[in-house]
Amino acid sequence: MMATKGTKAIYPGTFDPPTNGHLDLIARASRIVDELVVAVLRNTQKGTPLFTVPERVEMLREATAEFANVSVTMFDGLLVDFAREQGAKAVLRGIRAISDYEYEFQMAMMNRKLDPELETLFMMPAEKYTYVSSRLIKGVFELGGDVTSLVPPNVVERLKQRVPGNGK
Ligand code: PNS
Repeated sequence: MMATKGTKAIYPGTFDPPTNGHLDLIARASRIVDELVVAVLRNTQKGTPLFTVPERVEMLREATAEFANVSVTMFDGLLVDFAREQGAKAVLRGIRAISDYEYEFQMAMMNRKLDPELETLFMMPAEKYTYVSSRLIKGVFELGGDVTSLVPPNVVERLKQRVPGNGK
C-alpha cells in the first residue's frame, strides 16, 4: 500500500448525474480532508443509467476542477478493497434526511465488518439541496422541468444533449 500523508477519503457513488448536492458535499469535505477521491461505481445494480461511467467521471472532473485536492476516478468490486488500494482511511457519504439513514447505516456497518480500519464519515449537504437526488433530477428533466439551479451548468448541457426536447 502506498503511504499517504494526511487524511485521504473516498467519496463513492453512482452520480448519474452529479448534482449540486454532491458538489456541495465535495466542497465541504475538501476543506476537512487532505485528499478526496470521488469514485464512480462501474457495476451498478441500479438499472439502466442515463450517462456512461466515463461521462459521469468527465462531468465530475469538470465540476470539481477548482478543488486542488479532489480527484475523480471509477471503481468496481468492493469499496473496502478500492479504499485499501488507494490508501484511504475513510469513506465519505452524504445524509440528506432520516430516510437516508437506514441504507447508509447498513452500508457503513457492512463496510466496517469487511474492514474494521475503514471509517465512514457522514456529512450533510446544504439545506437547499436536501430534496435533490439524481433520480429526481432525471425524472423532472425528462418531463420538461427546469433543474438549472440543482445541478452544475455542465450537467445541464449534458442533460440537454441526452434528453432532447427539454429546452430548459
Ligand atoms: O450513490 P449510491 O448509488 O448510493 O452509491 C452506492 C455505493 C456506490 C456507495 C455502493 O453501492 C458501493 O459501495 N458499492 C460497491 C460494492 C460494495 O462495496 N458493496 C458492499 C457495501 S454494502
